[in-house]
Amino acid sequence: MGEPETVLITGIAGFIGSHVADALIKEGYRVFGVDDLSSGRLENVPKNAYFFKADICDFERMDTLFKETRPRFVVHHAAQVSVARSVKDPVFDAHVNILGTVGLLDLCRKYVVEKMVFASSGGALYGDVDAPAREDKKPDPKSPYGFSKWAGEQYVRYYGQEFGIGYTILRYGNVYGPRQDPYGEAGVVAVFTGRLLCGERPVINGDGEYVRDYVYVEDVAQANVAVLKKAAADAAVNVGTGIGTTVNQLFAMLVEISGIQAVPQYGPPRPGDLKTSVLDPSLAKEIFGWEPKTPLREGLKKTVEWFKGRICH
Ligand SMILES: NC(=O)c1ccc[n+]([C@@H]2O[C@H](COP(=O)([O-])OP(=O)(O)OC[C@H]3O[C@@H](n4cnc5c(N)ncnc54)[C@H](O)[C@@H]3O)[C@@H](O)[C@H]2O)c1
Repeated sequence: MGEPETVLITGIAGFIGSHVADALIKEGYRVFGVDDLSSGRLENVPKNAYFFKADICDFERMDTLFKETRPRFVVHHAAQVSVARSVKDPVFDAHVNILGTVGLLDLCRKYVVEKMVFASSGGALYGDVDAPAREDKKPDPKSPYGFSKWAGEQYVRYYGQEFGIGYTILRYGNVYGPRQDPYGEAGVVAVFTGRLLCGERPVINGDGEYVRDYVYVEDVAQANVAVLKKAAADAAVNVGTGIGTTVNQLFAMLVEISGIQAVPQYGPPRPGDLKTSVLDPSLAKEIFGWEPKTPLREGLKKTVEWFKGRICH
């Protein structure tokens, strides 16, 4: 047996990055992780991962880290993830999401990384859609966050074309599941679950008829595994379910699953919120054999179970 393949995961202490780390460790990869713990938590980092607390924008520190770890693959999840913060502070958003990404790509070039996986966002990129969006839909970002993800994608492509770094851009739908921050502005499943379990009344922004594509985090982690294992071709690929669910439907399912009766409070719509965001996942199946496996009800059950006993002590 040869040496295990090495992967560097940025944002490993975060919601999605930590699940990707779990899945890659299970597959036998040697996982190195970087996170500045700005929103991530140390307890999310798997025990068998090698963890470095660092800011991806600290290029000298990152250079040393690449030199020491020599990753074959880089899976890039560290980001400024708040749309609202990107509106309030677009410079900071661009600093982390654009400069941070370019800095990493430059190190991938210097240390001859074989492939980079880049976490992008279908919702933030495509804007409102009438039907499940395909990857060839013209981007129509509505926030600095959407633009910084789009710019990140362009740099990933540039480094791929110019320097032969293989890449897959994963455009996620609304990812949900264990470890998502229940106190954040986004992540409606975690926010509602947190409020229901704590006996508080969840607030629905707008009329609750906004449609989203909810994809379970372990399925998202498996998409990352499939990309590395199948040596997927350079492309941007949706990671969603193709199924739209309204916020009202989601709320009703959570009430039923948790067994906690609650009536939502309706608040004003949030400026800039999309009406409909659903992603067509067929390209992922075609090029690296990935399909979402977890029906929404099942994923919500697992999520509610996980949150029980972890909040409201
Ligand atoms: N959650 C979703 O539904 C969703 C949808 C589309 C795209 N994404 C993308 O997926 C990725 C992961 O998102 P998440 O939901 O897990 O968010 P998260 O906040 O849980 O994870 C992001 C992680 O990056 C770390 N980080 C932030 N800035 C950093 C920096 N400068 N240096 C080092 N680490 C830094 C944070 O501490 C955190 O652990 C992000 O790139 C996000 O844009 C998420």
